[in-house]
Formats: sequence, structure tokens, C-alpha cells
Amino acid sequence: MKGRLITLEGSEGAGKSSLIRYLREWLEQRGETVVCCREPGGTPTGEAIRRILLDRKRAGMLAHTELLLMFASRAQLLAEVILPALESGKTVICDRFVDASYAYQGGGRGLPEADIAKLEKMVLGQLQPNLTLLLDVPVRLGLKRARRTGKPDRFESEQQAFFERVRKAYLLRAGQYPERIAIIDSAGNQNSVRKQVIAKLEQLA
Ligand code: TMP
Repeated sequence: MKGRLITLEGSEGAGKSSLIRYLREWLEQRGETVVCCREPGGTPTGEAIRRILLDRKRAGMLAHTELLLMFASRAQLLAEVILPALESGKTVICDRFVDASYAYQGGGRGLPEADIAKLEKMVLGQLQPNLTLLLDVPVRLGLKRARRTGKPDRFESEQQAFFERVRKAYLLRAGQYPERIAIIDSAGNQNSVRKQVIAKLEQLA
């Protein structure tokens, strides 16, 4: 692949959205062509799947249904957006990717890692992000930040213990893949987060 795939991860309130806008500008100023996308979603089919996944009325959704829908959205995004962009040498910034399935459906919902790994192999093959920025924030602080904005969706309505498991699973993955996943301390201010991220990007270049 000529391009590079950068993914952003973290539990609620970690500050991904504003960081993505900043990252895009920073990379474009360096002459890169950047494509931004998000999961679940990022394609018409994926956005329809996202609406189902985030709908608070679907409280009875099975964890396996949730996992399969995440991968359905991912398969579509890969085919329509990510792979064509990487093949033409662009830089893709994806707001969440496969690590989120390990953290939320694995850690949060308690699904076996082996189930997720099977789907990962089926949908992604050997594809891995070049860099994953894990925005890590203590759960209480993250939830306080997230709950300031609008009505909580189906995930945001979960209890604190769920997000503690999600955070633990993310940190575990970062420990397993230290060369790919960078932990960014996101408890501090925006400037400190940006500095840490740019340092990682400069290493990648
Ligand atoms: P967002 O709020 O970052 O846009 O993500 C939507 C929600 O989807 C978020 O609460 C995390 C969740 N999610 C999973 O549970 N598994 C996944 O694989 C992905 C990509 C997201």
C-alpha cells in the first residue's frame, strides 16, 4: 500500500473529534492528501448501520449482533473508502477501527477475543493501521466531558464499569502492540495532547 492508515481510539470524552481536525490540517500543511472517516459509519450503508447501533431503543441487541454490525460497517468502509485511498497514496485518518471492537465488544461486552480475531481475519486480512493513537483518559473525567454534549446514545448510556473494562482492554492491546499503538495521555489540555501526537507522527515520517 502506498498510503498510510492512522487510527484514533479511546473511550468516551477522550477528545478525538477536535484532534482529528487538527491532525488533518497538520498533515495537509505537509503536502499529504488526507481522507477522514469514522467507524461505525463512513459510507451510506455504514451510516445506516451506525444509526441502528447507537439507537437507545435497541437495548436488547445481542453482543454478537453488535460485533457483526461493527464488522459489516468496517467491510463496507474498507472497500469504498480506505483501500482505494491507501492504494492511491493518501493518508487515511479513521476515527476508531478494529481495536474498538476488541475494547468494546471484547472488554466491554465480554465476547471472546477469538471471535473478534476470526472476523478481523475475514474482513481485514493482513491490513493493520500504520499508527494507532489511543487517547487515554480516566473514565470519570471522560464521561463528564462526553455527557456535556447532547443526549447519550446506546453506548454512552452504559454504566461506568463498562467503560472501565473498555479502557482496560484498550490499554492491554497497547501493551500487546507497542510498536503500533501509542498511548496519548488525554487528561490534560489540548496543547499537551497535540504535542504528544505530533511527536508520534514525526517518528512515523
Ligand atoms: P463514536 O462515538 O466514537 O463515533 O463511536 C460510536 C460508538 O461505537 C462508541 O461508543 C464506540 C462504539 N464502537 C464499538 O463498540 N465497537 C467498534 O468496533 C467501533 C468502531 C465503535
